[in-house]
Amino acid sequence: MISDVPPGSGPAGAEALAAATSAKSIVLTGGSGNVGRVLRRALTGRIAAVHILDVVDPSPLAEHESWSSIDITDLAALTAAVEGADAIVHFAGYPNERAAEDMLRVNVLGTHNVYEAAARAGIGRVVLASSNHVTGFYPRDASVGVEDQMRPDSLYGLSKCWGELEAGVYFEKAGIRTLAIRIGNAGERPFDPRGLAVWISPRDLAQLVLIGLEHPEIDCTTVYGVSATDAAWWDNSVATALGYRPQDRTVDFAAPEAFQPKVSPLPEVTDHFQGAGFCALGHDGAVRRRRVWRNRS
Ligand SMILES: NC(=O)c1ccc[n+]([C@@H]2O[C@H](COP(=O)([O-])OP(=O)(O)OC[C@H]3O[C@@H](n4cnc5c(N)ncnc54)[C@H](O)[C@@H]3O)[C@@H](O)[C@H]2O)c1
Repeated sequence: MISDVPPGSGPAGAEALAAATSAKSIVLTGGSGNVGRVLRRALTGRIAAVHILDVVDPSPLAEHESWSSIDITDLAALTAAVEGADAIVHFAGYPNERAAEDMLRVNVLGTHNVYEAAARAGIGRVVLASSNHVTGFYPRDASVGVEDQMRPDSLYGLSKCWGELEAGVYFEKAGIRTLAIRIGNAGERPFDPRGLAVWISPRDLAQLVLIGLEHPEIDCTTVYGVSATDAAWWDNSVATALGYRPQDRTVDFAAPEAFQPKVSPLPEVTDHFQGAGFCALGHDGAVRRRRVWRNRS
């Protein structure tokens, strides 16, 4: 269990949470990737054991880390590899737009396999790398919460909708608890103006992952993965209720380029919607306003 962390606690509890550790032995898919490596460093000393599943070698490994070369599209191999773990932190997959068949094979089928493997191996917790591109077609002046309708901006965003929805199915049918983190942009620093609104620092991401591994009130719960920012694109009150207290402010870490205006292709779309370039892919250039239908009965 996370040590000394009352759920939803105030500032003192937040400090405890920021320094919390977990005795769990986890499987981390995608641990060789950009975010996987950053997360591993931030979790070092804060988690008992991490077994990485990735098709790419994650070297160098820390003492508490191990690796198996497993393709998440291979259900039998994946099921055998997760056996005995306390939880799966699922970060493997494509982080950008791909052809539909690739997206379906790796991001959709791969994520399905993670849930199926968890169910077969009796694993009750998943932390899912979802994405802000689930709601990328909201304008930048909207404050979007996790209860708002999904508005994916790409096949990539759609694949993340699948993951969040599948979390619900496997909670209802198999009792697997998931924290889906709609990551904004994860890395050491924000490198462009959009990063000022969406960046999450390594230790803030680690804090959310630890909440996902341990918080007793998680069922199939979604939060935004963002550090402290003055931009108000997202209502992250669910994360706050779970005790998330970002330790880092985006402006304090921003690279100089983050304060320079960026010239975008199709700026009327790219600069209008939260999903930026993902929205512009294949777009005809006309900005459309969606009607919001509400049940008035
Ligand atoms: N980079 C970001 O800021 C960001 C933002 C939102 C969400 N995410 C999500 O976080 C996760 C990691 O993103 P990233 O930027 O580190 O991507 P990445 O491409 O750097 O890393 C992905 C990892 O997954 C592995 N992988 C791919 N296909 C696999 C397969 N079939 N079987 C096993 N391993 C496979 C790759 O080898 C790689 O190591 C992704 O799910 C991505 O959608 C990232």
